[in-house]
Amino acid sequence: MLKTPTNVSDLKAAIRDLCREKQAIILAHYYTTGDIQEVADFIGDSLALARKAAATYAKVIVMCGVHFMAETCKLLSPEKLVLCPDPAAGCSLADSCRAEDLKKFKDEHPGYMVVSYVNTTAAVKALTDVVVTSGNAKKVVDQLPKDAKIIFGPDYNLGSYINEVTGRDMLLWNGGCHVHERFSVEQIVRLKKEHPEAVVMAHLECKAPVLAVADVKGSTADMLKYAKQNSAKQYIVATEAGILHELQRQCPDKEFIPVPPEIPSEECDSHSSCTSCNECQYMKMNTLQKIYDALKNGQPAVEVDPEIAELAVKPIERMLQMS
Ligand code: 13P
Ligand code: SF4
Repeated sequence: MLKTPTNVSDLKAAIRDLCREKQAIILAHYYTTGDIQEVADFIGDSLALARKAAATYAKVIVMCGVHFMAETCKLLSPEKLVLCPDPAAGCSLADSCRAEDLKKFKDEHPGYMVVSYVNTTAAVKALTDVVVTSGNAKKVVDQLPKDAKIIFGPDYNLGSYINEVTGRDMLLWNGGCHVHERFSVEQIVRLKKEHPEAVVMAHLECKAPVLAVADVKGSTADMLKYAKQNSAKQYIVATEAGILHELQRQCPDKEFIPVPPEIPSEECDSHSSCTSCNECQYMKMNTLQKIYDALKNGQPAVEVDPEIAELAVKPIERMLQMS
């Protein structure tokens, strides 16, 4: 029996061989480590990954991201084997909205439609009218009837930004991402003093005061697009640090300065692997070894309860049609 390769380049080559053998495609989010982004067939933000999962002809999808992303792939491609290298890779935002709590809230607010961020479980999506990502939330909400009464969840910061730019008055769920909530205006002001010419880019999951001082507010893909097209040479980046790999790859002559979190790393007791705390420990649970093992063994595979899947796929498809 062949031994598992131990060095990184042999492991990457073995992963590509397995992809050919199994007719598999590797999708990776920008927050995964650089070596995973390099071995992937396709890297993208949540919206692009969902689109790719819906369109691919591959028989097997290895989703390197977090669990809800693998679930989204399975919902859009139920006939395919969807592998999640580490099914324990969760999401603090998805965890902040349990389906039973949303159901109760909906019952308390008859006549409201539900717009859910893609960072949710399939069970929450099954209670949802339309899903959005940070890349299309404004576009989708703008198309909803002007008099619609809307519950938006679970990201409070994204919802409040969308209320502001659309003039809506959506009821907001009080959830948040533990990575993005750590960025502070103070840190950005400090970096801006050191780099006065730098453009400040912030993800829409950041708090309102952080977004207020940002020049570019959007999804990870929006940041990449902006940095590629803009002539500025320096960028202060308030999002998960994994995006810097692709920013630097696509814009080798530009400088990207990650915003450190408000909480010093020595005070962070939420995870052991991260050194800067602007990393999502869930995204970083994906490793080359786990991808190799998943491809070799055909597991861990993501499954969604068929009754939930039937309901949950509809708001995702609606989103793809509207964006
Ligand atoms: P994007 O849709 O910008 O990729 O964001 C996903 C995410 O999980 C942000 O924390
Ligand atoms: Fe979830 Fe935050 Fe990690 Fe994105 S960065 S996957 S929102 S925990």
